[in-house]
Amino acid sequence: MWEIIAKLDQLRDEACLGGGQHRIDAQHRRGKLTARERLEALMDPDSFEELDTFVEHQCTDFGMDKTHVAGDGVVTGYGTIYGRRVFVFSQDFTVFGGSLSETNARKICKIMDMAVKVGAPIIGINDSGGARIQEGVASLAGYAEVFQRNVLTSGVVPQISAIMGPCAGGAVYSPALTDFIAMVKGSSYMFLTGPDVVKTVTHEEVTAEQLGGAVTHTTRSGVADFAFSNDLVLLKQLRRLFSFLPSSNREPPPRIDIGDDPKRHDLSLDYLIPNDPQRPYDMKELIDKVVDGGDFLEIQAGYAKNILIGLARMEGYTVGIVANQPMVLAGCLDIASSVKAARFVRFCDCFNIPLVTFVDVPGFLPGMQQELGGIIKHGAKLLFAFAEATVPKVTVITRKAYGGAYDVMSSKHLRGDLNYAWPHAEIAVMGPKGAAEIIFRNEIRDSEDPAAKLQQVTEAYAANFANPFIAARKGFIDDVIMPHDTRRRIIGGLRTMAGKKMELPWKKHDNLPL
Ligand code: HXC
Repeated sequence: MWEIIAKLDQLRDEACLGGGQHRIDAQHRRGKLTARERLEALMDPDSFEELDTFVEHQCTDFGMDKTHVAGDGVVTGYGTIYGRRVFVFSQDFTVFGGSLSETNARKICKIMDMAVKVGAPIIGINDSGGARIQEGVASLAGYAEVFQRNVLTSGVVPQISAIMGPCAGGAVYSPALTDFIAMVKGSSYMFLTGPDVVKTVTHEEVTAEQLGGAVTHTTRSGVADFAFSNDLVLLKQLRRLFSFLPSSNREPPPRIDIGDDPKRHDLSLDYLIPNDPQRPYDMKELIDKVVDGGDFLEIQAGYAKNILIGLARMEGYTVGIVANQPMVLAGCLDIASSVKAARFVRFCDCFNIPLVTFVDVPGFLPGMQQELGGIIKHGAKLLFAFAEATVPKVTVITRKAYGGAYDVMSSKHLRGDLNYAWPHAEIAVMGPKGAAEIIFRNEIRDSEDPAAKLQQVTEAYAANFANPFIAARKGFIDDVIMPHDTRRRIIGGLRTMAGKKMELPWKKHDNLPL
């Protein structure tokens, strides 16, 4: 009897060695943890239960029948993060370069199916040479099985991808279909075609890092959401991200109350807006001062910086924050920022996360580049996302809310639940100067001193129209609030709207302007 038990231990120990000690050492030399070490760092201590440890590939071509490694290059199973259930897979680069075989894909699909059945998030750790070349189309079929599940699972349970090594070719599409992508600087990359193919086809010489490294994807392409300095930091931050999320679309996110007073005033907010309306201020300062403990998990912090998105808590409940950033492009909406925020708004709406929107937007960014790039269609994505969202929506206009961008940024007209404005708010079709130049064009032209006339009519326009009270008189703004009282008013709004129920008209699905 004891021999059988000892044999099991021995087989498990062998499986844990993956492709062998020398390949584990090579992984470490590159500053990378192994598949199992990563799961240890990600999950609660001793919570991980591995499944399919002894699964092997079925391939007999190219001498593969003589090379079997238990587990076949991916570690799968379940466990907990902060006590909440999660399903995970972690590709093992030490076994056939973590490449995806038919059986390896089946293991991943198994835990995905289990996660959907019980309503628990899925975290995938990617470190793979792509399709198992020896298996050919069987491997491609495996990828497609994973993709299909990524799609069906989207909006049902949160899906998170960590890119911690190579992720190339069609393999990139599984992470791309998930809700969040985190990468490690210097040791991970994602691209459809690598530097060699790029050189052959377009004669461009680029490194893997330039083409698809963490910095590229978090600052240039917008493909990834987070870039971290090493494996351990990434895994620790994934735990933090996880703490904000619900387990599924049928549950609210967990409440984590750190005891920050919901009525806390911050008098410094009364001085946040500069006297000169053309001067920027840092919207992050407002977010930090309003949310619980200043704990704001910014998402896509390095990309389309003219809009801020991220997760925070108010009175312990997770909220999704969307905010124009006057420090970058004066907070204008452009293609990149519209798409960035639209996807986030839809994520929050899928997963019962109320939206808190801070508005200081002088409009959509003008120019050939924007128009030819399709700002009409891309801007419509953000409008669509806010308009269809049925979670509680609380909006605060801090300063400018001009033109179409006023409508788009979670306005009352897009079923905003509570829309507040600070006393400095200017809610108008356009800025006072532009408006005065159009409606007083003749008076300015005929004046002896056109510059002085322009200034005079601009000031008159601003005094009469660039304020929050016209909108407030129409009920488009529910109240004009003191900046220092913003936290209390937002929390009051969220409390009031908790449990909000709203149905969309029956449809198969909508037709978002893609
Ligand atoms: C089988 C693979 C493999 C693969 C790597 N290995 N990729 N085995 N299928 N796709 C094996 C290697 O043979 C090697 O085995 C071990 O993994 C480590 O690989 P190295 O090349 O030694 O490592 P490194 O120098 O770090 O290079 C990593 C790499 C390189 C850049 C990923 O291995 C590579 O270019 N691999 C091929 C990538 C590729 O073309 N994949 C197919 C893409 S197409 P030994 O025994 O020597 O240790 C694709 C389509 C997906 O994925 C479509 C989905 C729809």
